[in-house]
Amino acid sequence: MTKKDGGIGARGLKTRVKKKRGLKSSSRRWLERHLNDPYVRRASQEGMRSRAAYKLAEIDDRHHILAPGMKVIDLGAAPGGWCQVAARRVKSDPERPSVVGIDYLEMDPVPGAAILQADFLDEGVPERLIEMLGGRPDVVLSDMAAPTTGHRRTDHLRTMHLVEAAGDFAIAVLKPGGHFLAKAFQGGAENELLARLKRNFRSVHHVKPPASRAESVELYLLAKGFRGGEEEHTGSTHAQEAGEPER
Ligand SMILES: C[S@@+](CC[C@H](N)C(=O)[O-])C[C@H]1O[C@@H](n2cnc3c(N)ncnc32)[C@H](O)[C@@H]1O
Repeated sequence: MTKKDGGIGARGLKTRVKKKRGLKSSSRRWLERHLNDPYVRRASQEGMRSRAAYKLAEIDDRHHILAPGMKVIDLGAAPGGWCQVAARRVKSDPERPSVVGIDYLEMDPVPGAAILQADFLDEGVPERLIEMLGGRPDVVLSDMAAPTTGHRRTDHLRTMHLVEAAGDFAIAVLKPGGHFLAKAFQGGAENELLARLKRNFRSVHHVKPPASRAESVELYLLAKGFRGGEEEHTGSTHAQEAGEPER
């Protein structure tokens, strides 16, 4: 199906996908973009499970949310790229993992991470995650995304429901000083969650790592420095970190 101009492995040359009956042009464009994506290539060379792994790595390089000895929960973990990055950066012991990932999809084991195959929204699942981790997490990560329907508004609302559930969980279980990072989408409907995060964390901002495609509406919410215990009063309490404009 694919043809490399100038020979297989020729660097800098684009892989083109032949026009074939049965492959819609939008699918052909997706496949072409995927095959020519430097992060996809890098992931396969470096043994990373997903190109998404680089989003977490880039966010952590800049914002320093993972450190050796930390406990981490990774919501929506399959195929495991974020678990790989987190397990390496917190130096998780494979015998007693300090990273717990959850996904309703089956995934291959990740050294240094314990995996729960379940729907995060099901009753009793949050408690099970804390049990598996053996205590409160320092960091709650969520890259959860609902399967896309093609209807932008529906997809946005479904993802916002997931980020809100992840935010509630983070506020309920994080250790004081802990951090929360979650996939969100550009396009509103998140004001309530933002306000709640601002009341409960020292700083809150949106981040778009270079590995997140510019044309994608994907955006990450990063809340740092959990104040510990729900704060219900309103008013601006968050301090922005230098250099990171809040949107
Ligand atoms: C973008 S992928 C995550 C990629 C991952 N961060 C990585 O680096 O490999 C989003 C995942 O969220 C999972 N997901 C969505 N809703 C979920 C839910 N309610 N419970 C558990 N997993 C969920 C999907 O199954 C999917 O695997």
